[in-house]
Amino acid sequence: MRVAVIGAGVIGLSTALCICDQYHSVIQPLEIEVYADRYTPLTTSDGAAGLWQPYLDDKENTQERVWNRETFDYLCGHLNSPEAEEMGLFLISGYNLFTQPVPEPPWKDIVLGFRNLTLKELELFPGYSYGWFNTALILEGKSYLPWLTQRLKKRGVKFFHKKIESFQEMGADVIINCTGVRAGDLQPDPGLMPGRGQIIKVLAPWVKHFVLTHDLKSGIYNSPYIIPGSKLVTLGGIFQLGNWNEENNPKDHKSIWENCCKLIPSLQKATIVDEWSGLRPVRYTVRLEREVVHHGSLKSEVIHNYGHGGFGLTIHWGCAMEAARIFGRILEEKKLAQSPPARL
Ligand SMILES: Cc1cc2nc3c(=O)[nH]c(=O)nc-3n(C[C@H](O)[C@H](O)[C@H](O)COP(=O)(O)OP(=O)(O)OC[C@H]3O[C@@H](n4cnc5c(N)ncnc54)[C@H](O)[C@@H]3O)c2cc1C
Ligand SMILES: *[C@@H]1O[C@H](CO)[C@@H](O)[C@H](O)[C@H]1NC(C)=O
Ligand SMILES: *[C@@H]1O[C@H](CO)[C@@H](O)[C@H](O)[C@H]1NC(C)=O
Repeated sequence: MRVAVIGAGVIGLSTALCICDQYHSVIQPLEIEVYADRYTPLTTSDGAAGLWQPYLDDKENTQERVWNRETFDYLCGHLNSPEAEEMGLFLISGYNLFTQPVPEPPWKDIVLGFRNLTLKELELFPGYSYGWFNTALILEGKSYLPWLTQRLKKRGVKFFHKKIESFQEMGADVIINCTGVRAGDLQPDPGLMPGRGQIIKVLAPWVKHFVLTHDLKSGIYNSPYIIPGSKLVTLGGIFQLGNWNEENNPKDHKSIWENCCKLIPSLQKATIVDEWSGLRPVRYTVRLEREVVHHGSLKSEVIHNYGHGGFGLTIHWGCAMEAARIFGRILEEKKLAQSPPARL
């Protein structure tokens, strides 16, 4: 059985690991190969701040709620492990700020200690009249991707640096499609769009809490945010739907810098270390399903796993487990396995 995973961002690598760990003893030989034209530290997953927080409005998508929760709980299980440091995983607390009252988010019982802000706390953030405080997690792609890669290599997974132009060239029994925003290159998906982001990384070790603002007027995902990482603090607040430009834009730089300095004025004393632009793979829902693709007399099973918007690290493990369950069903149909292993 040959499995080809296309994509080496957080989605491709975690899906490969999940399938490898659940099925290597069920089916032998199980050859897993990863194909990608960008590897860590050059993927979108490396640039993300890595804060665990789903969108405020998940359009009642209960399936994605479950995957978000599974990811949070899985990561919590690793917090007390010595591996946490290498994974780029740690706890962080902080604020979500609004200019008017809003309904509570669907993830309020997943994070730790979710509560409304007190008046005294709101006084710290002039211009905001409502908000929440909670503890969540950070999973930094720049550490997590190398960690995943190392585990995959130990299990004999092979990596190929290659742009895939068509599924035909793969010749694998099962293809796992984890191509992020560029999935449309291979076979257009009109539902998939870039949500361009730009961030500034600064040295400001005195900033210890995340601060996410949601100004309903400028669009909730186009408002300034500040997220401290293990070494640098990420300043952001750009969300441009349909913009494919991966170059840094000086106008966006200026607006991020000015808005974040207004939010936390001591940032004026921070040193700018880096700047980055990336494309969120925006879709109305995550696409996580099977498709049989025919090319001539040959056919391949494809499992799609893409379209994780601005919450790929937040949802990745739940999606990897779902992809592994779908893989188990394919094995069962091919009579290669009795039954999928128990649901984790
Ligand atoms: C500014 C910004 C901030 C963000 N902050 C957060 C955050 O705090 N928390 C959070 O959870 N999420 C955040 N995100 C979202 C997160 O980065 C994405 O959801 C996630 O990285 C998507 O992962 P992926 O593996 O699908 O895509 P990617 O990381 O983009 O990986 C795609 C992979 O597919 C490969 N590929 C694509 N097409 C081909 C092809 N034809 N042939 C070969 N290889 C191909 C690429 O080379 C790459 O390896 C942020 C995003 C941005 C832009
Ligand atoms: C927060 O305040 C809102 C009203 O503004 C209330 O409905 C909600 O129950 C409060 N949540 C918590 C966690 O106290
Ligand atoms: C991955 O999904 C995208 C979007 O539908 C599609 O363009 C691409 O062809 C898929 N790749 C494979 C190998 O099926």
